[in-house]
Amino acid sequence: MINLSGKIALVTGSTRGIGRATAIRLAEAGARVIITGRSEDRAKEVAKEIASMTGVGALGIGLDIGIRESVEDAFEAINREVGGVDILVNNAGINRDGLFLRMKYEDWEEVLRVNLTGTFLVTQNAVKGMIKKRWGRVISLSSVVGFIGNTGQANYTTTKAGLIGFTKTLARELATRNITVNAVAPGYIETDMTTDLPEKVKEGFLSQIPMGRFGTPQEVANVVLFLASDLSAYITGEVIHVNGGLF
Ligand code: NAI
Repeated sequence: MINLSGKIALVTGSTRGIGRATAIRLAEAGARVIITGRSEDRAKEVAKEIASMTGVGALGIGLDIGIRESVEDAFEAINREVGGVDILVNNAGINRDGLFLRMKYEDWEEVLRVNLTGTFLVTQNAVKGMIKKRWGRVISLSSVVGFIGNTGQANYTTTKAGLIGFTKTLARELATRNITVNAVAPGYIETDMTTDLPEKVKEGFLSQIPMGRFGTPQEVANVVLFLASDLSAYITGEVIHVNGGLF
């Protein structure tokens, strides 16, 4: 039985999709979750929903991980209100797809700024608190396409592969502090990020998945929950793939 009561869990981009499903799983296990999104109102709404669903208090705050001041302001509030974070799930991420030769500089820059620099900023702030508590979990959402590539996603795949190097280095630097650092690499999961894909593209993906279906946000959340718990205490610097056998 996984019991996270007494732990504070911050999930970035947790107002929908995999982030929201993850926050629900962590709250069901007893963690007090901090729901964050670019809209503070929406974050507060989702926090309320999760609190009434699970009976565990949840906090909603505005946090745009791509803006340094926003990250600093959010951590000031988090440190003041709940005394830091025990579990960090780096879930927020964006894509701005386009073939490489035509990819706009702005689309390259924005995806790197949010997915990589944003993750750096949030993690650095969170880890400072974990070091004081002598316990911590950092779990970042990579992607199968960071391992196999994907036409039209040079920017996005670069960031998802980059998060693996980030994870492995932090795992080494933080191991003696009792902080584990791992990644989850989903395949194709049914969320807002994938629903808008053209039917033909979806069928193409589906034909490559041995299990013959897309994954659900809950199936990713279950693995994050495992990595957040004491069941995974001796696992660090690892990547767990959740892709129905695709890779
Ligand atoms: P989504 O687009 O449904 O949700 C992403 C969340 O991040 C949203 O709540 C969004 O508002 C938030 N977000 C975006 N930019 C932000 C910013 N600057 N600051 C704070 N929050 C921000 O996406 P989904 O599918 O739930 O994906 C979650 C994570 O999983 C992403 O990192 C994504 O790259 C990754 N992933 C998703 C896969 C899929 O098939 N859906 C596959 C592999 C990885």
